[in-house]
Amino acid sequence: MSTLHRLIGSCYRKTEALLRPLLFRREKTAILSRYPKLQPIMEAFERHYIRVEYGAHDRSLMERIERKLTTHDEFVYGTTPWRSFLKVADSLEIKPDDFFIEPGCGTGHLCFLMNQAYGIRAQGIEVMANFITTANQIRKDLSEQGFDFNNLHFYNLDFFSSDFSRGTIFYIAGTCFPDDYLTRLIHKIAKEAKPGSTVITLTHELNHPAYVLSHQVEAFFSWGRDKALVYTLQDVN
Ligand SMILES: C[S@@+](CC[C@H](N)C(=O)[O-])C[C@H]1O[C@@H](n2cnc3c(N)ncnc32)[C@H](O)[C@@H]1O
Repeated sequence: MSTLHRLIGSCYRKTEALLRPLLFRREKTAILSRYPKLQPIMEAFERHYIRVEYGAHDRSLMERIERKLTTHDEFVYGTTPWRSFLKVADSLEIKPDDFFIEPGCGTGHLCFLMNQAYGIRAQGIEVMANFITTANQIRKDLSEQGFDFNNLHFYNLDFFSSDFSRGTIFYIAGTCFPDDYLTRLIHKIAKEAKPGSTVITLTHELNHPAYVLSHQVEAFFSWGRDKALVYTLQDVN
């Protein structure tokens, strides 16, 4: 890598680190105006991922470099902002016995959100170890401060080896997943999850007989404006 490339990279990282707190403040204000009890959770995420030199994108990249995974597009990281996901969640009919599963949960913030704002069971599965270590650290620290996270779990696993049978709401931010990879994942969910389950994907429409489009929600993501597609799973087995 040339000196010029290193300099550009360093300027980009520094600008991103300076802007991050400003963008997060807007997220935090919006979420806490509706769910004030999430304040310690948002502040924990702020401490770990916002007011630091290396944010979530850097942390994913650093682990991918170390594990020699940078040529695998499926592991590219992108964030769904808290506010954007709340907009999607508001469009669903969430019941107390729902079970949220997020294959490829990244930092796990959406699992915390679903578990604490909607009071439902939530499970995040992520292949990047450092995200799961941090999510479990936040879970442990806040449990000691009185939060009940008995129904919130994080696993450092390949989602292809996970069991999806208990899930009723799935969220897949798989815009960067190669087509065949996303196809394998939606086949697995269709095979294991109960008919009537909700499956939310981004960007590309799904082409599978078990997935019937219910509606779509437009929102902002770390890569720009995009659409969340909300499907209801049918019994075609
Ligand atoms: C675009 S990011 C989305 C993160 C999070 N869902 C969000 O919306 O903020 C996709 C994540 O999926 C993870 N991932 C990709 N393939 C995976 C696999 N087979 N098992 C577990 N995680 C995986 C990547 O490491 C990455 O963190």
